[in-house]
Amino acid sequence: MRTDTPQLIRLSEYQKPNWLIDNVHLDITLDDGHTRVIANISIRTAQDGSDNPLMLDGDELVLESIAIDGKQLPASAYTIGRKTLTLRETPKVPFLLTIVTLLDPAANTQLMGLYKSSGIYCTQCEAEGFRRITYFLDRPDVMATYTTRIKARKADAPILLGNGNQIQSGDLPDGWHYAIWHDPHPKPSYLFALVAGKLGKVSGSFTTRSGKHVSIGIYVESGKENRASYALDALIRSMKWDEEVFGCEYDLDIFNIVAVSDFNMGAMENKGLNIFNDKYILASPETATDSDYANIEAIIAHEYFHNWTGNRITCRDWFQLCLKEGLTVYRDQEFSADERSRAVKRIADVKTLRSQQFTEDSGPLSHPVRPIEYREINNFYTPTVYEKGAEIIRMLKILIGEKKFNEGISLYLSRCDGTAATIEEFLACFSEVSQRNLTHFAKWYDQAGTPRVSIIESYNPELKRYSLTFSQETPATPGQPNKEPLVIPIALGFINRDGIEVSLDTSHPDFNENIFVLDQISSELTFNDVDSKPILSALRGFSAPIILETSPSDDDRLFLISYDSDPFNRWQAAQGYAMKLLISGANQLRAGNQPKFDPRFSQALSQVLKDDDHAFIAQLLTIPSENDIAREISIDIDPESVRDSRLCLKQFVGKEIGHQIQDICEKLTTTESYRPDAQGAGRRALRNVLLDLLSSGYSDIGLNLTLKQYQNADNMTDRFAALSIIAQHPGTVREDMLNDFAEVYGNDPLVLDKWFSLQATIPEDGTLARVLKLMEHPGFSIRNPNRLRSLVGSFAAANLSQFNRKDGAGYEFVAKIVIDTDRSNPQVAARILGAFKTWRSLEPRRRTLAQAALQTIERQEKLSPDVGDIVMRTLAEN
Ligand code: PHE
Ligand code: ZN
Repeated sequence: MRTDTPQLIRLSEYQKPNWLIDNVHLDITLDDGHTRVIANISIRTAQDGSDNPLMLDGDELVLESIAIDGKQLPASAYTIGRKTLTLRETPKVPFLLTIVTLLDPAANTQLMGLYKSSGIYCTQCEAEGFRRITYFLDRPDVMATYTTRIKARKADAPILLGNGNQIQSGDLPDGWHYAIWHDPHPKPSYLFALVAGKLGKVSGSFTTRSGKHVSIGIYVESGKENRASYALDALIRSMKWDEEVFGCEYDLDIFNIVAVSDFNMGAMENKGLNIFNDKYILASPETATDSDYANIEAIIAHEYFHNWTGNRITCRDWFQLCLKEGLTVYRDQEFSADERSRAVKRIADVKTLRSQQFTEDSGPLSHPVRPIEYREINNFYTPTVYEKGAEIIRMLKILIGEKKFNEGISLYLSRCDGTAATIEEFLACFSEVSQRNLTHFAKWYDQAGTPRVSIIESYNPELKRYSLTFSQETPATPGQPNKEPLVIPIALGFINRDGIEVSLDTSHPDFNENIFVLDQISSELTFNDVDSKPILSALRGFSAPIILETSPSDDDRLFLISYDSDPFNRWQAAQGYAMKLLISGANQLRAGNQPKFDPRFSQALSQVLKDDDHAFIAQLLTIPSENDIAREISIDIDPESVRDSRLCLKQFVGKEIGHQIQDICEKLTTTESYRPDAQGAGRRALRNVLLDLLSSGYSDIGLNLTLKQYQNADNMTDRFAALSIIAQHPGTVREDMLNDFAEVYGNDPLVLDKWFSLQATIPEDGTLARVLKLMEHPGFSIRNPNRLRSLVGSFAAANLSQFNRKDGAGYEFVAKIVIDTDRSNPQVAARILGAFKTWRSLEPRRRTLAQAALQTIERQEKLSPDVGDIVMRTLAEN
């Protein structure tokens, strides 16, 4: 492999900046290949660092000139390295550095720095993109105020947007115009943004609780304005919620959001000018599903919430990424929980955590929530930093209680405001207000891997004594062979045979309000005067991001499915039961036998159907995915038996409760017109889960109903759900429906993405050929991140049996795409490559084939740091 192997950056080698920047004045003339950036940067030495040379970061820049206090520097006054510009001599007093660079935004296929997407100029600077605009101290602990003058041809770019407030604008000769934006809040360079182009606008406004008027603009592709109203509504609700729950008020006169169609990530929290992947803005009932709406709401909130947790308080260095991301994910999860159903939201979040983060944490890419070293920071925007980071916050709240938690947050928001902070500073706020030593708890940030906790119950009827023995163990992860015990809050519930919660007493100091805090390798909890053995409901609400190893009897599971008052654990009991059946089914299939399933499972589901929380029942009836099952099996996986076991269980359940399902489906049909609210979404989710089961059990009846739904639906949720069910059943009907869908929505890229990813995830041998053919579809573009992720990303990450084909063709295909994409967009290539992280858990034959594909990538002449880093870590032995 010949990457420009970037050096290892270590947290332990952090040094404060020697130089500081107070103000930045940018003058940017947007003119395709001749885009010119004049940066006027006022620089001074940091108190203790004056003797060090000034070394600026730069990446792929063309330098036109450089001057100090207005005096041009000769070439001998500086040296330009591949990623740096170093000044030989610098004044001892504050000075003005003027740098002129030339850019070609249309040729910027990496989508980092300033680039052009479908005619729109836009920027992406996190994490290290600003250095692709000008030479700079491109690190988050250098904070400055920014003034940006944007100049462009008015006909090409009538809209000119920057951070902060617009302070001036006007026309210039020859059809040009300009606007000047000023952001008074000091910020790191990664929060800089500008946008210019022809855009439609949806306006709104918000008055903060202290009476400040904020003008809101959401800018989208012209003609799509009517698809931005839900995003606007979600933004206004987020602004209100953040005031009420966290006391955070917005701090500028303007808040703008722009949706662009080429974007590497979901969205970006640039100060006062959020830039979004249009997939997370645009929605109408005809084009977006309920889950699209929920995602839009969550991501709008997430980026908005960054204004405080991320922007006003930023990160000292990129190792502290979880400081802003974990906390902000926690905040957006709470927002969605308040706006929708808390129980259903928790289930959805835990599903994501397990499917993304647990998988990451058990493979070669496992790393601590706060990594101690990296080669490419882009590769650390991970489920571990984000989702596990949020779980740590959630545990902290459980440990110190809601009241102290809120006090800690308030202290953090006031004390660290305007600074670039660390996890230590964050935790200090909570330990101060709670008078609790959080040193041991803080291990969660530094120790990778998912702890496994086992609980063994015992009951002595003579002594009326009930006891629980807890023990924890975290498996080794790359670079961390030995693990220490963590502080794990475990929420417990005890239910008697009548289904009533009982409260039990113990003298153990670490058991309070039904939370046991396990902080040793093992501990025992003993309860006295217990008349009969209760049924244990452990890890309620998923109070810690661990793998719980209990072995409840089938009877206890059935009991909990019906009676647990904790909705999360009711769902968990059903999932656990299904999982047990699925794994034994897979084992039977592998041994050449047909699986036998326990009818008590389907009877329990049938009971649940009598409840009335539709969204919750829908979750409870959803059979774990192939990837879920594979993760649970964890070694020597045979993808085909996993797939087949799942199909068999769905068929079994569909047959067993088919008649009941059919009745309920009819009752759930409504003539009400579509609204994207939680209630309607719940009803649709349930109906669609049931249709899927029915179609598995009684394919003629089920598919007939499904087809009808496809034809009559007034919304994308129902139409696409129907198509997804039909897609699992081979035949001409399927192909006709798929063609029909493409004809109707062929001109709508975001809808077409659903169609691509649906077909890429069909668990059949013909899928790879189908994907190859779809790459020729006029709506597909390999250079657009959303298209590529929908087709190839879904195939690699969400089609267990086809990515892991027995002949290795799935691996070869994905490796080829990764190599090709790496030349234009390394970040997106590295993400797709991430699908290989489970390769060691497969059966030996596939393991060998996956390894060969990875080695093909590794042997490439030239790899980006992004792909180079992932392939190296994925292959590493440890
Ligand atoms: N900071 C963004 C978020 O979490 C994610 C992001 C990272 C976007 C890097 C672009 C580049 O909201
Ligand atoms: Zn974020």
